[in-house]
Amino acid sequence: MTEANTVKDLYETLKQHLSDNDARYVLRKRAGLEYSDLITKSDSHVDETALEAIESDIEQVIDGKPLSKIYGEREFWGLPFAVSEHTLDPRPDTETLIEAVLKSADREKPLSILDLGTGSGCILISLLHELPNARGVAADISEEALALARENAEKNGVFDRCEFIRSDWDENVNQAFDIVVSNPPYIRTDVIPELEDSVKKHDPILALDGGEDGLQAYKTIFSRLSKILKPGGKAYFEIGYDQSETVMRLSRESRFSNIESYADFAGHIRVLELWSDDRSGDK
Ligand SMILES: C[S@@+](CC[C@H](N)C(=O)[O-])C[C@H]1O[C@@H](n2cnc3c(N)ncnc32)[C@H](O)[C@@H]1O
Repeated sequence: MTEANTVKDLYETLKQHLSDNDARYVLRKRAGLEYSDLITKSDSHVDETALEAIESDIEQVIDGKPLSKIYGEREFWGLPFAVSEHTLDPRPDTETLIEAVLKSADREKPLSILDLGTGSGCILISLLHELPNARGVAADISEEALALARENAEKNGVFDRCEFIRSDWDENVNQAFDIVVSNPPYIRTDVIPELEDSVKKHDPILALDGGEDGLQAYKTIFSRLSKILKPGGKAYFEIGYDQSETVMRLSRESRFSNIESYADFAGHIRVLELWSDDRSGDK
């Protein structure tokens, strides 16, 4: 792959295929090189084992495999998460949802949180990490995803405040929560073949396919929202970049007519915060 094996040459080669951050990540993981080493050891040679590993990484990246799936890990909200072929890679856009929840969640309260379609567990685990008195339930239809979410909860020190249930959305959920969060599959079935290889080949179809109109999960979850949300509770959904109008309409039709929206880094409305005025269940 590359004739050169000095630190400087490898760094340059990696940057042809990866962001600067990711290039440095590979050098750190494979060759133990920190950022300062890229300057102080730039003419040093990398040993054969590290070189072979880096060359294999580059080949896989060229083939469309995300670094996270090569290394089995990804950072989200500054925390380490294990990922696998059974889970969506946590995306930076999803951090918008964490910010939205934290904007109004009271750190002191013993809040209950339900995460529907937890995948790697990144949403619930990050929230529990930020809200030390909160407890949560992570639900997913995929047993493999739940196993990974458990591992991630342990890794991030929130396992004792977290329950894991296999459930088709809320089917096996028997209580109401202060906060419901979800990043459901929302891509239209006919768009999936057009996605980048790094997504369609390496993220599970169960995490992507939102049905014919991309809205199937929202329709199902919204129809049950008043049962799984306590009176006065709030629900937060990630949505596709072009779905805000439609999902807001669905929300209003489900009597969740109070809606706050949050934009992602690119300026697209990415998260909707929903609540209802119907507090008939209040004591
Ligand atoms: C877009 S991924 C989100 C994963 C993770 N919450 C995140 O934000 O990175 C959607 C998740 O929903 C799960 N899922 C798909 N259909 C489901 C269903 N009917 N019931 C429960 N979970 C489902 C998938 O297994 C996947 O983990």
